[in-house]
Amino acid sequence: MNVPFLDLKNQPAELCSDIRSAMDQVLADCNFILGKPVAEFEEAFAAYCECKYALGVASGLDALKLILRAMDIGPGDEVITVSHTFIATALAISSVGATPVLVEVDPATYTMDPAAFEAAINGRTKAVMPVHLYGQTADMDPILEIARRHGLKVIEDACQSHGARCNGRRAGSLGDAAAFSFYPGKNLGAYGDGGAVTTSDAALAERIRAMRNYGSIRKYYHDTLGENSRLDTLQAAVLGVKLKVLDEGNAARRDAAARYTEQLASVGDLITPAVRKGSEHVFHLYVIQTGRRDDLQRYLLEQGVECLIHYPVPVHLQRAYDSNHWNAGDFPLTGKLATRILSLPVFPGITEAQQRYVTDLIKKFL
Ligand SMILES: Cc1ncc(COP(=O)(O)O)c(C=O)c1O
Repeated sequence: MNVPFLDLKNQPAELCSDIRSAMDQVLADCNFILGKPVAEFEEAFAAYCECKYALGVASGLDALKLILRAMDIGPGDEVITVSHTFIATALAISSVGATPVLVEVDPATYTMDPAAFEAAINGRTKAVMPVHLYGQTADMDPILEIARRHGLKVIEDACQSHGARCNGRRAGSLGDAAAFSFYPGKNLGAYGDGGAVTTSDAALAERIRAMRNYGSIRKYYHDTLGENSRLDTLQAAVLGVKLKVLDEGNAARRDAAARYTEQLASVGDLITPAVRKGSEHVFHLYVIQTGRRDDLQRYLLEQGVECLIHYPVPVHLQRAYDSNHWNAGDFPLTGKLATRILSLPVFPGITEAQQRYVTDLIKKFL
């Protein structure tokens, strides 16, 4: 049997036909840049995230960068984020000229350790960027409390957590602003690159609306030094259709995750994902840990099970950050996780037979 990591080819026929109709309409209208579907999607996505504004941009990385720029965060400023994340989180901070300050994650949930965050605050700190990793929000209540006490902005990296909730509130509505990615493999994925900023801050939303479009609201009049980072109309049309089935897809992911967790209970040294109390995980990724990770991954791949590592090289050990002050021994927990974690296939259409095949192989191996 072959179990793909993610199966984008087998979408339900009705969904495919709705997406094609939406795309056909864009082709007929030829309004490819900031056409009506962009505004429609922005309105629907803001409502979904239970906040006031959503702004479509070109990618998740751009969403993070635009938030930082709109908050006037730049050279001389520090932004605290986690060592265990996709590199784009840190890249966004570096690319506006600010300094990413990394802190460790909680060993059970892989999200920002609030105590480590507080310990890293100094006079240059301007913001905190918790990452809602693998589909679970960071522990936002203590993070928000610490940030408010120190007068820091809170920027959610929600690129992996469309629809997740923290104590009843949606990812994207928890901080001052949030960044989402619509990379095709995300829980809400486009047919190419795309991203969004969500916020309930009207002034911030207006700044980003202009900044993503050459600093302009009115054509050929430019109030700020902006960029070209817009969500394509075609992508917005696709996303508008897919947003309607996001909750259904997330529920299917949760069911699949529950099946894995049940079947993998007490197997060798294996650790299954922990869900924090009050958190509604959307399982963008289902990540296990074992001391025999490399051998297990090789075995599963040989048996036709596609499994990946998110991420094999932590941010502080990436060559791109060679010139920084980080050393190999920094962030020991993150370093250890990078040698132990393995992401198993999980997606809305995964079958019980596919999952049973994966878990039987893991049991046999371990
Ligand atoms: C945690 C995190 N932050 C930021 C990004 C960047 O998103 P994009 O690929 O749309 O630029 C990603 C994308 O995978 C991500 O996982």
